[in-house]
Amino acid sequence: MLYPQETIEQVLEASNIVDIISEYVKLNKKGSTYFGLCPFHNEKTPSFSVSDSNGRKMFYCFGCHTGGNVITFLMKYENYTYTEALKVLADRAGITLPKPEYSREDSEKARRREQILEVYKEAAVYYYHLLKSPRGQQAYQYLKNRQLSDETILKFGLGYSDKYRDDLYRYVKSKGYTDEVLKETGLFSIRETDVHDYFWNRVMFPIMDTRNKVIAFGGRVMGEGEPKYLNSPETAIFEKRKTLFGLNTAKKHKGNELILCEGYMDVISLHQAGFTNAVASLGTALTPSHAAVLKRYTSGVVLSYDSDGAGRNAAVRAIPILKNAGLSVRVIRLDPYKDPDELIKAEGTDSYRKRLKEARNGLLFEIDVLSESFDLTDPEGQTAFYHETARRLSYLEDEIERENYLKTIASQFRLDQKLLKDRTIRLVLNRDSGRTYSSVPTQPPARRPEKKEPAGLLESQKTVLAYLAEHPGFLEKTGNILSPEDFTPGLYRDAAELLFAQIRQGCISISGIIGSFSDEESQEQAADIFRPGQLHDDDGEYRKLAADSIILIRQHSLEQQMEKEQDVGRLLELKKEQENLRKCPFLFD
Ligand code: UTP
Ligand code: MN
Repeated sequence: MLYPQETIEQVLEASNIVDIISEYVKLNKKGSTYFGLCPFHNEKTPSFSVSDSNGRKMFYCFGCHTGGNVITFLMKYENYTYTEALKVLADRAGITLPKPEYSREDSEKARRREQILEVYKEAAVYYYHLLKSPRGQQAYQYLKNRQLSDETILKFGLGYSDKYRDDLYRYVKSKGYTDEVLKETGLFSIRETDVHDYFWNRVMFPIMDTRNKVIAFGGRVMGEGEPKYLNSPETAIFEKRKTLFGLNTAKKHKGNELILCEGYMDVISLHQAGFTNAVASLGTALTPSHAAVLKRYTSGVVLSYDSDGAGRNAAVRAIPILKNAGLSVRVIRLDPYKDPDELIKAEGTDSYRKRLKEARNGLLFEIDVLSESFDLTDPEGQTAFYHETARRLSYLEDEIERENYLKTIASQFRLDQKLLKDRTIRLVLNRDSGRTYSSVPTQPPARRPEKKEPAGLLESQKTVLAYLAEHPGFLEKTGNILSPEDFTPGLYRDAAELLFAQIRQGCISISGIIGSFSDEESQEQAADIFRPGQLHDDDGEYRKLAADSIILIRQHSLEQQMEKEQDVGRLLELKKEQENLRKCPFLFD
């Protein structure tokens, strides 16, 4: 952790989580908790809660189980790192953060990342200057022939890597970077006998993250040659599967759809034509991480992939990934042109705008592609097509929407509407709720390995932690029979240790406990533990549940200790405690 726990808690204390989240999500008060539509999954009724009472200061979604404190929220929503989120909150609250206390390892890593970013910045500026210099004449002409304006070239920071094999190397070397750092940038091959640049005689496309920092390059050969595009290797600052070209600009777009295309040139020519909401993955298939990133900035995606077979296949694969992230999907028709760049050149901006408006729903596109893979003149092919169509329709939750698509599809493919409907409804009724949408028939879930722990042990630990957070005095009432060591090692035990310590100090901070976990997953799990209870304070049931849970946890812990215990005297003590426990002394006071 870069900052002392104390500072983090101070910032959390000073931040009004309801106010902050309200800036992103419309919240309504119900009792002591606020509710709204979850920004992290797709939903129509609010299951996203924010609570500010009982030192809780946390959010939790009962639908997708995302949760955490206000730092977690900003990390997820704004894609900030932990430190960035903390800084934003500290600024807001007027708190000056102390100098970060990096561990040696962390500080080394952070410095290295900074240096790699600097080298990329130097390289981008250098490539841009080369393009505009006499040495870049041919490259500049190439871009001009592709009808890019000077303004576009500047906006995207396009550049040129020269013919000399170590041109960039010599330039950045003169700026004082060591070979050790340069090696890690992936921009050079550095061996004792030979040093050369990774990019050589190519038109350069800088790839930027959402904060406008250059984190990689794509380099295109001018004219024919293999590979057509060369991309930077992955480095400490560049992860291909999460990065989208053009998102740094597209994220500012005010509409509610982003255009997703295949290539650098598609994005650039769309932006030049005024469609500044275009992005592209980097020559890799779309990943769930891409979809999650997109979901942060938009509620819907218009696929504008190439019209050839490869593009259609890529679209079929991308649709379920996007839908599962909660994005609506439409697909634009580009034929007879290969890609958006070609279409705009041939027919102009208005034509693309028109096609954008007419973009088809992703489902109809899928069914269309599907129909091509079945022989509909053959009864067997027909049956299979019915089945597959029904399966896809069954994923539509809204009945009216389902009915509409059913009609459209039945008439387009001359299917028996009633038959299709019957099949669809049967699937809707049979399907487990919550299964995710997939373009291939789903597999039954793998069996879970059986656990030795008694049923409900973790659930009991959750109950106890949540109850004690609200009724810290209860711990003493139970005669302190429970200790953090009775909890399952890992998250539960860590949370218990912090909570018990806080109870002893008389100052509970749930957001502080959540904040003590540095990875997002643990933060979410911790938030899940302390999520607002459905049972209320004055509810004797809740108290009884907590008491029962304490007994269950302690019993289990005692059994485990007895299994390991060699000392007979100690064993008898444990046994005695176990018997006393059954009398539940604190249950009836
Ligand atoms: P395309 O071949 O469609 O390129 O590949 P393009 O963007 O339309 O470029 P132009 O118009 O021919 O210049 C789509 C994307 O696939 C990746 C790149 O990200 C490219 O933009 N790609 C393609 C590679 O990474 N390497 C290649 O060799 C080819
Ligand atoms: Mn293309």
